[in-house]
Amino acid sequence: MSNKFYITTPIYYVNDVPHIGHAYTTLACDVLARYKRARGCEVFFLTGTDEHGQKVEKAAQLNGETPLELADRVMQRFESLWKKLNISNSDFIRTTQQRHKDGVQKIFSRIEKKGDIYLGTYEDWYCTPCETFWTETQLIDGCCPDCGRATEKLQEESYFFRMSKYQQQLIEHIENNPDFIQPRSRRNEVLGFVREGLRDLSISRTSFSWGIPVPGNEKHVVYVWFDALNNYLTALGYPDDKDGNVAAFWPADVHVIGKDILRFHSVYWPTFLMAAGLPLPKKVFAHGWWTVEGKKMSKSLQNVVEPNMLVDKYGIDPIRYFLLREVPFGLDGDFSHSSLIHRINSDLANDLGNLVSRSTAMVNKYFAGKLPPRGDASEFDAAFTAAFPDKIAEIDRHMDDLAFNKALLSIWELISNANKYIDDTAPWTLAKDESKRSQLGTVMYNLIEAVRIVGLLVAPFMPDTGARIMTTIGADNPDLMLDGHDSFGELQAGITIAKAKPMFPRIEEGQK
Ligand code: ME8
Repeated sequence: MSNKFYITTPIYYVNDVPHIGHAYTTLACDVLARYKRARGCEVFFLTGTDEHGQKVEKAAQLNGETPLELADRVMQRFESLWKKLNISNSDFIRTTQQRHKDGVQKIFSRIEKKGDIYLGTYEDWYCTPCETFWTETQLIDGCCPDCGRATEKLQEESYFFRMSKYQQQLIEHIENNPDFIQPRSRRNEVLGFVREGLRDLSISRTSFSWGIPVPGNEKHVVYVWFDALNNYLTALGYPDDKDGNVAAFWPADVHVIGKDILRFHSVYWPTFLMAAGLPLPKKVFAHGWWTVEGKKMSKSLQNVVEPNMLVDKYGIDPIRYFLLREVPFGLDGDFSHSSLIHRINSDLANDLGNLVSRSTAMVNKYFAGKLPPRGDASEFDAAFTAAFPDKIAEIDRHMDDLAFNKALLSIWELISNANKYIDDTAPWTLAKDESKRSQLGTVMYNLIEAVRIVGLLVAPFMPDTGARIMTTIGADNPDLMLDGHDSFGELQAGITIAKAKPMFPRIEEGQK
């Protein structure tokens, strides 16, 4: 396995303030970034904001501010939310930054020089909310086939990208790389679309000015999706590559996106890259969409779930856990306060919280808070510890597949095994018999080691919880590394085990 890992979120439009959908994508990337770091990879984790285009220009006009003022204001909301959610991004790219604008112009010129960009006239329909061009026949009752909103007829001089030229090459790439588009069902959808035929793509506009000027013809601004998709390269320093990040991290290991923008990432982006002579990202993973209490989230329904509010009410780690546990990554899901409360009470307070508090309380009660050495073993001990390596390998596989909920299920099997181990070995009975003291020590040692390993496994999902567990049991692993730390026997007997305070207070259903 290569030791470098490059993961990206979409860059978010600044005409909207961050909501739970944005938080979901970014959180999923953060979890994977943290997991890969814990596995010893050097990770570049990119997020940012998409600040150009007609949609942003219109939103700024409505607000009576310049597009840049709007962008400056809204990007801070994204940035501060990511801090609040404990997001460990390596960089934050804004498409209004000089490094990005320079990079996009250079890529544009490179493709133009190759003959894959030409000047023509555009005469078709445009959906501003989706920033997408449509032909007359693609419209449904005159409206955008994706979002159903009104489109406008555009007739403009425009630069075109020869996307049609890359149709066959793209089909072959998708066919030869079964993991390129995930989940599988989405791959077939994209293949169907490409097989229907790719038209050349209009990649510039003249009717507004909020964008990156086309090099050599400043009447035109670069189409916002051509601008935005290239962020994945410009953030690494493409094309100059002064810091060597392009060489080190391109092609990206995975672009994580919502299903709404799959076509841009699996058709437009790969063909741009082919034209620029660059390798394609290894994987594009499209996750599903959240509804809220059964309804589509929308400003008009006033049901937009605001992540800051959720964190203030429930805490960071419970939100991080819930969003990745509740729904298989790739499928749609529904957000409700009652399912969130249920998960907090049952998975976090009962299962994980109890394991940590029972284990540490017993070491304090029976061994005055000093970790005993492993001594005599019973049939339960060997079986308990032996189950860990296979489960950990399984968790690794799930993480590689971005199957976050399955990884959490496997971690929770370890937690229930540990809670069962307590019931099976009945330490309170062993404690009554002095001749069983060595055996009691083994049970305590194994439990605390299990807590340590579980703590490391949950840490990418819940970093504060992971760190708290390590502090409580006196484990010296500040970076929460899994690599080299995921087998039994690391903790030295004699270290001090603190008594854990309740980590996840139970929440009553009415207490919202
Ligand atoms: O599309 N459920 O930006 P955007 C789950 N700027 N995820 C959701 C969601 C929901 N209800 N709503 C939004 C853009 N998302 C472009 C991207 S990338 C080069 C340019 C998430 O602000 C989902 O990941 O509209 C979706 O892809 C992203 O927000 C779109 O954010």
